[in-house]
Amino acid sequence: RLEKIWLAFGMAMLAVFLLVIGVSAFAMGMAPPTSHAHDHKIDPAQVKTTAPFDKPGLRQTGDHEYEAVMTAFTFGYSPNRMEVPAGSTVHFTITSSDVVHGFEIPGTNVNMMILPGEINHATYTFTKPGEYLVLCNEYCGAAHEWMKTVIVVK
Ligand code: CUA
Repeated sequence: RLEKIWLAFGMAMLAVFLLVIGVSAFAMGMAPPTSHAHDHKIDPAQVKTTAPFDKPGLRQTGDHEYEAVMTAFTFGYSPNRMEVPAGSTVHFTITSSDVVHGFEIPGTNVNMMILPGEINHATYTFTKPGEYLVLCNEYCGAAHEWMKTVIVVK
């Protein structure tokens, strides 16, 4: 009799245990993925036809707040020139449609590697007017040295 009670108790514990595992697995599945540098991957060949990269450009999202959707390719960036008023915070969203490129704005803390099809983010507030070059700092081929775009801050 005692054995039967223990057996029932054991079975109940097992059921509870499985239930807990099941519920936590379900909860994990439902939880939003933790956001890192890249949220998801695009086939590099599809970058030019995948939103938002099908329409690279600058768009205003608030007062002195902009989003810059950009693509890096051999050998340049799209758009190849952007203009924002001084004091603007620019949120960059950028991917590469071919090989690994870099994205460095000398004189700022913006410096990242742009992997093909991976979406990279950086944010910078341009307080001082001037011309800010964006340079590629990952060797990507013959014209690597000349790969750049410019952000004009007025
Ligand atoms: Cu792109 Cu070096």
